[in-house]
Amino acid sequence: TKQRITVIRGDGIGPDIIDSALQILDKVGCDFEYDFADAGLVALENHGELLPEETLDLIAKNKVTLKGPLTTPVGEGFTSINVSLRKKFQLYANLRPVLSFKGTKARYENIDIVTVRENTEGMYSGLGQVVSEDGNEAEAKSLITRAGAERILTYAYEMAIRDGRKKVTAVHKANILKSTSGLFLKVAREVAQRYPQIESSEMIVDNCCMQLVMNPHQFDVIVTTNLFGDILSDLCAGLVGGLGMAPGANIGQDCAIFEAVHGSAPDIAGKNLANPTSVILASIQMLEYLNMGDQAEKIRYALKQVIESGDRTTRDLGGEHGTSDFTQAMLERL
Ligand code: NAI
Ligand code: MG
Repeated sequence: TKQRITVIRGDGIGPDIIDSALQILDKVGCDFEYDFADAGLVALENHGELLPEETLDLIAKNKVTLKGPLTTPVGEGFTSINVSLRKKFQLYANLRPVLSFKGTKARYENIDIVTVRENTEGMYSGLGQVVSEDGNEAEAKSLITRAGAERILTYAYEMAIRDGRKKVTAVHKANILKSTSGLFLKVAREVAQRYPQIESSEMIVDNCCMQLVMNPHQFDVIVTTNLFGDILSDLCAGLVGGLGMAPGANIGQDCAIFEAVHGSAPDIAGKNLANPTSVILASIQMLEYLNMGDQAEKIRYALKQVIESGDRTTRDLGGEHGTSDFTQAMLERL
């Protein structure tokens, strides 16, 4: 039977870049059946809610979802759909690899870093959000559990071994956030002991930002809590040419959601300007998850050729073309 994939096309640039990825997946003979589902603003219009039951059912049923970015309206009353999905399906590991391609406007070459972000706890736990009646005081609860920390740290080390990586850096702020980051660091040191074959290091998050900009080649795998992982992974994307180059896999026990790290990019939406690389790389992560390494390798090779030759690349990469030309260049090479 054919592998069924749930597809959420998303808002803003979402539909354009998702369609690009689907054409590429079909071209390499993946032979998937797609179940399209609504979430976000589109779902609010069509079903009267941001995250309809139908969509949740499809995510659970097919177990593998490819998702475009969703706009989360800023302000009170809206829980982020992404945060909801990650919590609901316990997608505890968020893998955000960045890899250099030659011939882009990126500041560095030979960057190859994976951020492993804890995806369900920390400052994004959504717990204890209170605003005082007069609106002058706001608070929220950051939750770190030993089980949650151990789960993500173990994931990072196991991934490092599986992918032939050498070093894991645990990033924290235990000097100030003594209870929460303190617990994360304590567990990080314990887990590190179990993996003598991997070099373990630890770094305070503000220093880590500086080190990433000054000397990024010292990093291999970064493992960290939710908020730090969100911020550091965008920083890492900046090292390799921007958010258009950054995919993310949200992995849980039973299901996985593959997406771009970036948002719906309202500034370039509807203009055929978006770089689809982020979602193409997310599709490669999805194929690897499904043990379809041959197809993943074909797409990766074509992507490298298109980007490094500058054949019809998008403006963020230094080219002059749009999403559709870029996709066409990929399809021709495949
Ligand atoms: P953004 O990531 O949408 O855009 C930031 C900058 O990067 C913009 O200048 C944009 O043009 C550029 N950019 C992003 N993706 C690009 C691509 N593929 N090609 C070329 N340039 C690209 O961040 P922003 O503007 O802060 O957020 C917009 C909306 O997206 C918000 O509603 C936010 O909540 C949502 N968001 C959703 C995410 C998701 O669904 N996973 C993740 C992050 C933000
Ligand atoms: Mg983010």
